[in-house]
Amino acid sequence: MKTKHKILIGLLVLIILIQFIRPERNIENNPSRYDIFHKSGQPTEVVAMVQSACYDCHSNRTAYPWYGSVAPVSWLLANHVKEGKSHLNFSDWKLLEPEKQRHILDEVIEVLEKQEMPPKSYQWLHSEANLDQTQIQLIIKWATDFKAQLN
Ligand code: HEC
Repeated sequence: MKTKHKILIGLLVLIILIQFIRPERNIENNPSRYDIFHKSGQPTEVVAMVQSACYDCHSNRTAYPWYGSVAPVSWLLANHVKEGKSHLNFSDWKLLEPEKQRHILDEVIEVLEKQEMPPKSYQWLHSEANLDQTQIQLIIKWATDFKAQLN
């Protein structure tokens, strides 16, 4: 067999083998009662925007794309979700002290103003996460009002 063919077959076997290393998926069956929007009465348009632009990485419920179960993409996603949740997990919101909640809302406002979130690479693949200026301002206003209500 030619070396070229050996390399190709080797690569193919490798791609198949890595599929057996499956990271845990971030899918909670029941919506968390500690979620920031659980029975919150928050404006539905803001809820919808935040859920579709932020929840894949900042909640216990990731909506995986079809390629999300294919290694090594699955590993990358698992890493993103783990990192994102370590900074902010909207599903655990009600377990946080008000002081921490205010701090997080400040950070949310900051990342939106600087357009750091959602990450650019994510927006390329998720058009629903491409927030325009009006939407960004709506979320910032909501976060500001919400912060003022916390005690
Ligand atoms: C594709 C995954 C992903 C999405 C979608 C996403 N984030 Fe993040 N977010 C991360 C990761 C990873 C980090 C931690 C690393 C970093 O700061 O870049 C992070 C960090 C943060 C932080 C903490 C910043 C800091 O200074 O510590 C905030 C606040 C935040 N995100 C808000 C949001 C908001 C609001 C949205 C939706 C508009 C969003 N993120 C969407 C992955 C994501």
